[in-house]
Amino acid sequence: MTYAIECRGLTRTWPGNPPVEAVRGIDLVVEQGTCFGVLGPNGAGKTTTIEICEGLLAATSGEARILGLSWNSDADRIRQQIGISLQETRLSEKLTVLETLTLFRSFYHAGLDPWQAIDKVSLREKAHARIKTLSGGQKQRVAVATALVGNPRLLFLDEPTTGLDPQSRRDLWRIITEFRQAGGTVLLTTHYMDEAERLCDRVAIFDRGQILAIDTPKRLIAALGAEHVIVFAVSGDQNLPEDFGSGLPGVIGVRRESEHRCLSVREPHVAIPALLSLITQQGLQLTSLTTRQATLEDVFVHYAGRGLNDGEGGVR
Ligand SMILES: Nc1ncnc2c1ncn2[C@@H]1O[C@H](COP(=O)(O)OP(=O)(O)O)[C@@H](O)[C@H]1O
Ligand SMILES: [Mg+2]
Repeated sequence: MTYAIECRGLTRTWPGNPPVEAVRGIDLVVEQGTCFGVLGPNGAGKTTTIEICEGLLAATSGEARILGLSWNSDADRIRQQIGISLQETRLSEKLTVLETLTLFRSFYHAGLDPWQAIDKVSLREKAHARIKTLSGGQKQRVAVATALVGNPRLLFLDEPTTGLDPQSRRDLWRIITEFRQAGGTVLLTTHYMDEAERLCDRVAIFDRGQILAIDTPKRLIAALGAEHVIVFAVSGDQNLPEDFGSGLPGVIGVRRESEHRCLSVREPHVAIPALLSLITQQGLQLTSLTTRQATLEDVFVHYAGRGLNDGEGGVR
């Protein structure tokens, strides 16, 4: 079977002093009919990679083949089969929703009726409203509709839900899921790990222009060997060593998350009593304790050695 996307040895360097190696050797394949997520903090190289796949940027070296075709020789054939929603879409503020979709439909030989695209994103009541009168979430739905109106086989979505309210995010998740259920392929970038877990069949975790890990969300989490996280806080925390709790039975990793400490554990029922007696022994006061399932965020911390929101390269 032909891959929807096949990247081999992709690199991209931005000129400058010093030059920025935004993408430093990306290899990945996306199977048709799947949703693939590119995850990582700001500056990881997600947009650069997706824009090379979209034919908007040239790679410095390596190649991205799309639906078995090459951008060098088959650019028009690729363009007719893909839909693109950019990280920041500048739609013409004065056009109405219907006019916008009619315009985008004119770029394709075949595709949906503009009204069908409007219905896919549930904006029929806004069809005659000008873009400038729409909310952020509605504008984002129009942007996705412009990507759908050519009836693409492959949909590219760069941070489709960043900055949206929870209801708009869920609306977009539904649109993406429906497209995928109808047999479409999706490549999306996000820095929301919950979004990736919910939508993606496979994900690649990007950091500093490289892939740290690539697999299904379930397998990435299982590979940590610690599927639970104990999150706790104690009074007088500032006097404790950084690795407090690391010697307890079943504890795989320890780290701080602002005022809390996190223990990655295999068996909470073994680790929690041991933690409580350690705290009592040391005359400390427990101020909070919860447990949660490990997430892709924990996978990122494991591979990158820092949190998604921590310092250099973190999400701002
Ligand atoms: N047009 C550009 N000129 C120079 N550097 C750029 C340009 N676009 C992106 N970069 C740099 O490339 C790196 C990767 O950026 P980007 O691909 O946008 O990351 P992400 O989408 O993961 O946030 C960053 O260090 C960024 O500053
Ligand atoms: Mg980006």
